[in-house]
Amino acid sequence: MTTKKKSGMYKNLTNYGDSEFSIFLRKAFIKGMGYSEEMLNKPIIGITNTYSDYNPCHGNVPDLIKSVKAGILSSGAIPLEFPTISIHESFAYPTSMYLRNLMSIDTEEMMKAQPMDACVLIGGCDKTVPAQLMGAFSANIPAIQLVTGPMLTGSHRGERVGACTDCRGYWAKFRAEEIDLAEINEVNNQLVPTVGTCGVMGTASTMALITEALGMMISNGASAPAVSAERRRIAEETGKVAVEIANKSFNPKSFLTLKNFKNALTVLSAIGGSTNGIVHLTAMAGRLGIDIDLNEFDKMTKDTPMIVDLKPSGSGYMEDLFKSGGLPRILNELKDYLYLDAITVTGETIQEIIDKNNYNWKQEVVRNAEDPIFDKGSIAVLKGNLAPGSAIIKQSAASKELLAHEGVVEVFENLEDLANRIDSDDLNVTKDSILLLKNIGPIGAPGMPEAGLIPIPKKLAKQGVKDMVRISDGRMSGTAAGTIILHVCPEAAAGGTLGIVKSGDIIKLDVKKRSLELKLSDEEIASRKKSKKSNKEIKRRGYDKIFHESVLQADKGADFDFLRSIK
Ligand code: FES
Repeated sequence: MTTKKKSGMYKNLTNYGDSEFSIFLRKAFIKGMGYSEEMLNKPIIGITNTYSDYNPCHGNVPDLIKSVKAGILSSGAIPLEFPTISIHESFAYPTSMYLRNLMSIDTEEMMKAQPMDACVLIGGCDKTVPAQLMGAFSANIPAIQLVTGPMLTGSHRGERVGACTDCRGYWAKFRAEEIDLAEINEVNNQLVPTVGTCGVMGTASTMALITEALGMMISNGASAPAVSAERRRIAEETGKVAVEIANKSFNPKSFLTLKNFKNALTVLSAIGGSTNGIVHLTAMAGRLGIDIDLNEFDKMTKDTPMIVDLKPSGSGYMEDLFKSGGLPRILNELKDYLYLDAITVTGETIQEIIDKNNYNWKQEVVRNAEDPIFDKGSIAVLKGNLAPGSAIIKQSAASKELLAHEGVVEVFENLEDLANRIDSDDLNVTKDSILLLKNIGPIGAPGMPEAGLIPIPKKLAKQGVKDMVRISDGRMSGTAAGTIILHVCPEAAAGGTLGIVKSGDIIKLDVKKRSLELKLSDEEIASRKKSKKSNKEIKRRGYDKIFHESVLQADKGADFDFLRSIK
């Protein structure tokens, strides 16, 4: 046996102090699974198996793995699947974001520890795709993303419905007593009619589309439904491309640049994507030593028209986008806003991807840049004494009349306080009040839960109030809508100004001016901060300890400090 070969089975030999024995032993063990010597001399493509009974968004992963394997075998390599953590939004306590960095560590370390010349990353539900890409970028092993794809839509009493904008919409109607218990239970059966990811422009759809725009997926790989034959063909093709990038050692650092990330940010804005996409892209770029400047993002998006008509900002679902031509059609409409020479994982440039498709047929989901859904800047970056770092608002999903608003604040100190008081009859609020929730940032909750969509207080909901200005240091689901200010940095738990706001204070929001101001003098803010008692020290262990000691603020992607690229 020789150990000179550095690919396939010969990569990353276990350390016994005798490398020839290491390969001898490794082959002996894997032959127990029936492999021949001839097969074991081929390149190896790892496949992350993120199937889990706790993750319906990944319910089609076993089928996809079959198709990926077919593509890999037909191209002359060995497919080896391996398990990693799988995270579903509704099955992760305290919140899925708390576990994203753990999944990225798992993915990175298993990619580095096991022999593989390239890796197919199969993810889909919100945090899985960023976690996998963060891990793959740090491992810097050739990798390609395959998403599970969106679920189909359901139907409730003649109305088309899908997770999860309609989950929230129907729940708000139930809270406002517009529908009864029988109907809310009925619609519960229709919101998720198949496996796959949420079918609106939530975080999963956003991440799928911006991953394709970034160049980490085959062309038009983002939008095909989870249960479609096309999704299986995309999986097979992804397996084939994985072998090509393995043969060329085409690792992420060899082609991903700031241009790719700017393209992804432009697409994020043009699709009316989830605000979570910014946090994830920032964390992903940080793994490659690329800094994303939120002020520059704001300048870019100010000029970018929002052209995709999907919920929550518009009206359609991902299956409609797929039938309308998917991301290539969006790229075609955005030609003037993109770096067309950016290289993608297949080796094609964005220009080449645009050029190989035909757009000369009628559809209604992707508008042209002259006829946008929302004029410019679907997401805006705010600053001011309340958010000296930054805060963001998805203005395309907000109420126009609230984008310039001054109001008296009602403060909720944390999630428990919110749950205890939001529906009480004596809550001191009117439709013009501003609701402010503290301590749901990266450190505070912990894990920055998607609780930024503070519910409209029941007494106002019953009066027909549908939207109010709401502010927090947390996130919100990409499927949600409203005048919601998120990701306030620094967060309350990190000593941010948010932490010293009291009920009765006044806040002024002016999205056009990108400003978020607490109407207090600098002296008063400093004095309140000085007199604020520091939180009592809590003894921590395990992942909880790592998390609290290492998590960064939202403007750094809420990554762990020790996971970012060493410059
Ligand atoms: Fe998985 Fe929405 S819960 S994508």
